[in-house]
Amino acid sequence: MTIQWFPGHMTKARRQIEDKLKLIDVVIELLDARVPLSSRNPMVDEILKGKPRLVLLNKNDLADPQVTSQWVKYFADLGLPALPIDAATGTATKEILPRVKQLWAHKIERQLSKGINPRAVRALIVGIPNVGKSTLINQLAGKKIAATGDKPGVTKGQQWIKVGTEMDLLDTPGILWPKFEDQMVGQRLAATGAIKEELLHLDEIALFIVRYMVQHYGAALQERFGITELPEDMDNVHEVVKVMEAIGRKRGAIVSGGKVDLDKASLIIIRDLRAGKMGRISLEKP
Ligand code: G4P
Repeated sequence: MTIQWFPGHMTKARRQIEDKLKLIDVVIELLDARVPLSSRNPMVDEILKGKPRLVLLNKNDLADPQVTSQWVKYFADLGLPALPIDAATGTATKEILPRVKQLWAHKIERQLSKGINPRAVRALIVGIPNVGKSTLINQLAGKKIAATGDKPGVTKGQQWIKVGTEMDLLDTPGILWPKFEDQMVGQRLAATGAIKEELLHLDEIALFIVRYMVQHYGAALQERFGITELPEDMDNVHEVVKVMEAIGRKRGAIVSGGKVDLDKASLIIIRDLRAGKMGRISLEKP
């Protein structure tokens, strides 16, 4: 899903989250484990205004586990507990409730000390489009509740989803916008599929992927595409294009005359990365 974010949409999205914040105790901030900072809203601290917060690094099945550990430490250093999960299969999602409860434990203790029976902790999931909010809501609900692809501006009555007896989750997530002004962020988001290909050219996205792969995951790239040699100078665009052409040739992306169809080769590279065919790849390090 693509949302064309204009200032008006951002203001509206922000207002919608602020309305929801009044109802909840703990925020679950969903990020893409492969690109945690790039998939993060630039104003998130300001928007969430000090609400207790759990960071979830989603799609961890596609991310480099070593790099994900570094991100967990990075967020811990910022005072934010972070948990890598895989919302699609439910890996580690059972950990969410205890972590959310930890963030709310002081309130529960206070209620207990006053002799009040503590109510379920109320949580809201927020994140940029395509990060997996609806998938996670459905996973936690144990059934299909959230239509994937909620759009900001579509209002309906708020419903609570019971996650066990101890957590109530708002059924519609808070939708935040990414910080796409930064070109590198745009490339990372396009590579992971958070923004649509049409917003950048296919060859531009593939060029970014191949350059990053050669620099950080050269062996995985060679193994996937059977390339024997990788160039040294990845700042030289021609060298990167040569690798893309070699991949195209290996995969039969050829036009008449025997030239490589670079758009087709680019699509192969992008799809392979997104499907995890090159292995678990992170495109951003702390
Ligand atoms: P959103 O509400 O935040 O916009 O995201 P949504 O849940 O719609 O998820 C966006 C895409 O990310 C979906 O795939 C979804 O399956 C995928 N996804 C969510 N969580 C995970 C995860 O932990 N691992 C992986 N590998 N993928 C995940 P899609 O390509 O849009 O289509 P489809 O799979 O729904 O057919």
